Amino acid sequence: MKKIFQMICIGVTGLLLNSCYYDDVPPTPEIPDGTVVTYKADIAPLLSGCTTCHNGTQSPDLRNTQQAYNALFPSYVVLGNAPSSKLYYFAPGNTTSGHPSVGVSLTDANFTTMKYWIDNEALYE
Ligand code: HEC
Repeated sequence: MKKIFQMICIGVTGLLLNSCYYDDVPPTPEIPDGTVVTYKADIAPLLSGCTTCHNGTQSPDLRNTQQAYNALFPSYVVLGNAPSSKLYYFAPGNTTSGHPSVGVSLTDANFTTMKYWIDNEALYE
């Protein structure tokens, strides 16, 4: 009887410890193959906080959606190559960024979306 009690204790402790482990930050969800990600619908909204500075005085000019898209190629977006795309690697929030600290930054999920977009034709709409 004592043994069984001990086993239950160990089991419960194990479960408790395990649930602590799962309190960790959840991994960024993968984007399923075939999802259509476009600049107009998905990327431009991520960049809305950037236009206080990137408004024509600071390049890239990210204000007007279609013009911003045109401004991003080819200097800031290299099709199929996020690590070489300055919009990706230099944007505030990325670990590779040398961007000045500006109080706005993209999340890991935002970077996942942006990378998927760059890897999948970087369509406008
Ligand atoms: C408070 C002002 C400010 C905000 C907000 C801001 N930036 Fe910047 N950004 C700058 C400045 C200043 C530079 C130039 C830094 C340098 O050259 O070292 C810059 C440079 C850049 C560059 C490189 C430009 C080039 O021609 O090499 C990129 C890409 C960029 N920012 C993306 C973003 C993105 C994406 C956001 C929003 C998530 C953002 N920035 C928000 C001020 C800002």
